[in-house]
Amino acid sequence: MIRTPFAVFLASAAIIVSVFVIVALSTGRARTVEYAKATRIRLLFFAVLAAIMITFLVLTLPHLPYTLDARGPDRIVHAVGKQYAWSLSEQTVPTLENWDRDFSPAVTVPAGAQIEFRVTTLDVNHGFSVYAPDGHLVAQTQAMPGYMNRLRLTFDQPGTYTVLCLEFCGMSHHRMRGVIEVR
Ligand code: CUA
Repeated sequence: MIRTPFAVFLASAAIIVSVFVIVALSTGRARTVEYAKATRIRLLFFAVLAAIMITFLVLTLPHLPYTLDARGPDRIVHAVGKQYAWSLSEQTVPTLENWDRDFSPAVTVPAGAQIEFRVTTLDVNHGFSVYAPDGHLVAQTQAMPGYMNRLRLTFDQPGTYTVLCLEFCGMSHHRMRGVIEVR
């Protein structure tokens, strides 16, 4: 496995060294320089380079994700962490004062819709992580006090997704669970 990169390294090193050797040998004796010809070659080189770069710019620019992200999400879910639970809700954003009233351990969202999770925490750092029904990690972001991180996800498959904590946050870190029902 390691042989291929090493062979590539050896080949490219050999090319670079031989270019240096050829240049060193060919510039050993003095020559008159035709400046007009040199300028023409430079301009040609510049034009070719510019054409290549513009071609790739035009080809790749439409694939940038920014126009997609500029569109608003279909749904917004507030994900608020607190030792030791996740609150997931489209309606409420619990605070420390009204946690018991507004806390919601589960949220239901439609499949195929783009969901924006607005992730924060009321105490220490937590790791907001979304697991698929088969246990695979789908996505994760940090939950930080005083910050709101946005995580956009589109669930293609319906099922019960689990939110766990990926940052060791205390004694009952393993109990931090939330549920996303994708219908
Ligand atoms: Cu919250 Cu670990």
